[in-house]
Amino acid sequence: MRLVIHQNYEKASLWAANYIAGKIISKKKNKPFILGLPTGSSPLGIYSELIKMYKDGKVSFKNVRTFNMDEYVGLSKDHPQSYHYFMFENFFNHIDINRKHIHILDGMTKDAEKECKQYEKAINAEGGIDFFLGGMGSDGHIAFNEPGSSLVSRTRIKTLTEETKRDNARFFDGDILKVPGTALTVGVGTVMDAREVMIIVNGRNKARALRAVVEEGINHMWTLSCLQMHPKATIVCDEEAAEKLSEETIHYFKNMEKGIIC
Ligand code: GLP
Repeated sequence: MRLVIHQNYEKASLWAANYIAGKIISKKKNKPFILGLPTGSSPLGIYSELIKMYKDGKVSFKNVRTFNMDEYVGLSKDHPQSYHYFMFENFFNHIDINRKHIHILDGMTKDAEKECKQYEKAINAEGGIDFFLGGMGSDGHIAFNEPGSSLVSRTRIKTLTEETKRDNARFFDGDILKVPGTALTVGVGTVMDAREVMIIVNGRNKARALRAVVEEGINHMWTLSCLQMHPKATIVCDEEAAEKLSEETIHYFKNMEKGIIC
């Protein structure tokens, strides 16, 4: 696992956006770049940097096909708190991606099982995900794979924990009762199948989970700890999120980035 610690969120976001743009640009022209994407506040800085790069003519998304991680059950595409709405508002409406190449789970489906199976099939039909960008919940979850989720899970419906509903209530007028109780989400196994994974983590409220994910064992109670088994995974974080890591861990990973072999 690579851990890149930046002084602040802005620097971490810029670094990650440059990295992702580089990956898109270096993909062979006749082959689409398959990109997994998250919602939440953590990736907003990356999205706005990627939009800037597109507007400056530095990157195009014509060759990119996307799969979003998750969607709330019961929210329609035009509901302002749906992840559909979020993605168009904060990213897709501002770049040159072909709308036909955007995939987001349908939270209004009448057959969740079928919807989730079809999503996995659609990912496979594209040859798998090249690069999965993600965030992390304060309880260490990836996508909506709450503590206790199987580490080989596939796309399915999940019940959200009270902690996640509390965290996400800020997007629902601070009212936990308005947060849907279930969501459709890619599984831990779906994320792990991606050829590369990058997770953006910022803020003190993530420090406890980041310590568990980086310094403790693989554990379904912190589902992002699955990254320890991924051959090409990077966590990009700010110093606040790194606050509970040991001095040795911070020193080691910072020196690695400086090219100092320790
Ligand atoms: C939700 C999403 C996750 C996201 C997490 C953290 O639970 N399903 O994909 O990583 O929130 O959100 P934030 O970035 O707002 O802290």
